[in-house]
Amino acid sequence: MFEKIERVPGDAILGLIEAFKKDTNPQKVDLGVGVYKDDQGNTPVMRAVKEAEALLLKNETTKTYIGSHGAPAYGEVILPMVLGKESPVLEGKRASATQSPGGTGALRLAADFIAKQLPGKDIWVSDPTWPNHLGIFPAAGLTLRKYPYVDAENRLDFDGMLAALKQIPEGDVVLLHACCHNPTGFDLSRDQWQSVLEVVRERNLLPLIDFAYQGFGEGLDEDAYGVRLMAENLDEVIITSSCSKNFGIYCERTGCLVMVAKNNEQMENVRSQIAIVARENYSNPPAHGGAIVSEILHSAELAAIWREELTEMRDRINTLRRDFVEALKPYELDQKYACVAEQRGMFSYTGLTAEQVDRLRDEFGIYMVRSGRANVAGFSHENLSYLAKAIAAVN
Ligand code: LMR
Repeated sequence: MFEKIERVPGDAILGLIEAFKKDTNPQKVDLGVGVYKDDQGNTPVMRAVKEAEALLLKNETTKTYIGSHGAPAYGEVILPMVLGKESPVLEGKRASATQSPGGTGALRLAADFIAKQLPGKDIWVSDPTWPNHLGIFPAAGLTLRKYPYVDAENRLDFDGMLAALKQIPEGDVVLLHACCHNPTGFDLSRDQWQSVLEVVRERNLLPLIDFAYQGFGEGLDEDAYGVRLMAENLDEVIITSSCSKNFGIYCERTGCLVMVAKNNEQMENVRSQIAIVARENYSNPPAHGGAIVSEILHSAELAAIWREELTEMRDRINTLRRDFVEALKPYELDQKYACVAEQRGMFSYTGLTAEQVDRLRDEFGIYMVRSGRANVAGFSHENLSYLAKAIAAVN
């Protein structure tokens, strides 16, 4: 039977990891998959994580199942991180946390829940969005639709976005990026979030907010502005949170699905359905990553170390954004790529075309997604002048 099966190209983002490894150019630069890198190009284990792991190793007494919702101690720290310590949503006991295998796992749980419990509701995603969104929702049987997000000049097209949201059929699901929009790096201002809230309320839409980069934009609380605005002002919101980037535990697959309902009773009903969806997908989530996060956030001392390390990562990225634009000045390209300094998070939609991206790879060993998305964390003070020279050569 397998003789009929065709080979398909691998994932465009993950495929870059292999291609980069194979490249023998000593000056090669990896601006592909979204992992943080330090100035040496390494993705180190955070100190708070190492210390938490040492404690876990010493104190762990069992490897038994942790349940479909994951470890309660993990949910206990994720909810205030996402919704805010003093959140009225938590006060009202209308939010539920389900530990998931990464943010991707949380998205799939949300997708399956929507497909099963809200039949006929389509999901609207920004154009462009993280390419995996385009796979996850249809895989769960949902119809995917798009609203505009960037214009032809590579700027946030907020008017276009809002006008499109106003046309979405009542009750459909709209996917929003909480911060550090992937792939563009263009985030909504507070006023813009307010306008989105008004349209969502008017059209009775269900927001699904992908929160994969908390702490990488402006700060842990600042990045949660839109999430908290929606959760506090709407009856129902779905949030998918990830600890991959802010704790640097990519391979531990540590995420969370947060379901916000109108009241505690409805939240418990929804929560019971999420447990079934998790059970049918993978039964119980992996424990280790959640245990690390909960060890850190339950300890004032480790949490302080972690916050400091996260701030360092964020500041490094934001400094490199400005330095990149500076490095383009001698080539008179600083205006053209000024957006890189304004965008936030790990990614920049640079405006480089697919042909330019191909030339950067073939002629300079510089790897990025063909959409022109660069992982800014791959910039370093070592490679900025090389990058600038290469970009000038393909312009
Ligand atoms: C990315 O967009 O590069 C990251 O979210 C990693 C991934 O899984 O694609």
